Amino acid sequence: MQYRALGKTGFPVSDVALGLWGMSGWSGSDDAESLQALQLAVDLGCNFFDTAWAYGDGKSDSFLGKTLAANRDKRLYAASKIPPKNGRWPARPQYDYNEVFPAEHVFGHADKIRHALGTDTIDLLQFHVWDDSWTDRPEFRNTVEKLKRDGIVRAFGLSVNRWEPENGIRAIRTGLVDAVQVIYNVFDQNPEDELFPVCAELNVGVIARVPLDEGSLGGKMTRETTFPDGDWRKGYFNPENLRRTMDRVDRLREDLPAGMSLPEMAIRYILANPVVSTIIVGMRKSEHVRGNLALSDAGGLDAGLMETLRKHRWVRKPAPWSD
Ligand SMILES: NC(=O)c1ccc[n+]([C@@H]2O[C@H](COP(=O)([O-])OP(=O)(O)OC[C@H]3O[C@@H](n4cnc5c(N)ncnc54)[C@H](OP(=O)(O)O)[C@@H]3O)[C@@H](O)[C@H]2O)c1
Repeated sequence: MQYRALGKTGFPVSDVALGLWGMSGWSGSDDAESLQALQLAVDLGCNFFDTAWAYGDGKSDSFLGKTLAANRDKRLYAASKIPPKNGRWPARPQYDYNEVFPAEHVFGHADKIRHALGTDTIDLLQFHVWDDSWTDRPEFRNTVEKLKRDGIVRAFGLSVNRWEPENGIRAIRTGLVDAVQVIYNVFDQNPEDELFPVCAELNVGVIARVPLDEGSLGGKMTRETTFPDGDWRKGYFNPENLRRTMDRVDRLREDLPAGMSLPEMAIRYILANPVVSTIIVGMRKSEHVRGNLALSDAGGLDAGLMETLRKHRWVRKPAPWSD
């Protein structure tokens, strides 16, 4: 397993890491299997885990808390998120900052997350949505500074809205943000344009999320795949988006080198970028944990294939079904 510094936090995090959304929010989860997958990830050297209060109202945080408790001999890094008080994803400039992250909401949820994780201090606490129009609000600065001063968090981060990688750069420039979480994968290449250079300049950690495009790059989805009511992916992979996505996946397969799987190419595409600190792959199954974590040592794709994959860039705009 390879480790990279999470920006200025200096946390040496595994470059392939685990995201816990699916464990509490998606159909097809089996709790025992999820906890086993978490433990296997620890055993294989994964030390960074991304969760959020919104993932099952603390369910994912509690799963991570169990894993931390069972592995006190290891330094594991826990990242969680404060949900927006107005319950709206994504953030929009017309929402007032105090509708979304009023201080009592932030500190109240930070306490609930600490309790679920079983830790006094959260390694990385992120806002689950963000709009850069809030950057200059003094309440934002006061909250982040107090979270750190009071030892509630070691580091603060933003999880930026889907397909809006630039909507966070102003906040990053305040110096308050230690790490940014952004969708980055072989389709969604545009964080490379503006966000990543700023992160490199200011030594802000980059957490690449949704590396497998919510599963389409796992190689198992087809045009016939459906999801049950209540599963977020039912809306995301609506017939129109599923059709377009599978067209893109088919084109991507044409560039797949012999002997390489689609998820391997997708994850190693991200590993090739030195600005990325860690890749949080959603994994609930031991088989996926074993396969994906092994890619860390394989490292990034070679320059020739990276160049070929540039043409698969897919610039998407937020839609009513995308968050
Ligand atoms: N707004 C936000 O802040 C936000 C939004 C989205 C995601 N996230 C974070 O990012 C993490 C990752 O994103 P995600 O989970 O949404 O999507 P993802 O990582 O792009 O895809 C996850 C899907 O890929 C499957 N998979 C994993 N490895 C595979 C492999 N080797 N072969 C085939 N399929 C494989 C998983 O299956 P199994 O689950 O069955 O193993 C799961 O269905 C989340 O868990 C969460 O921590 C944050």
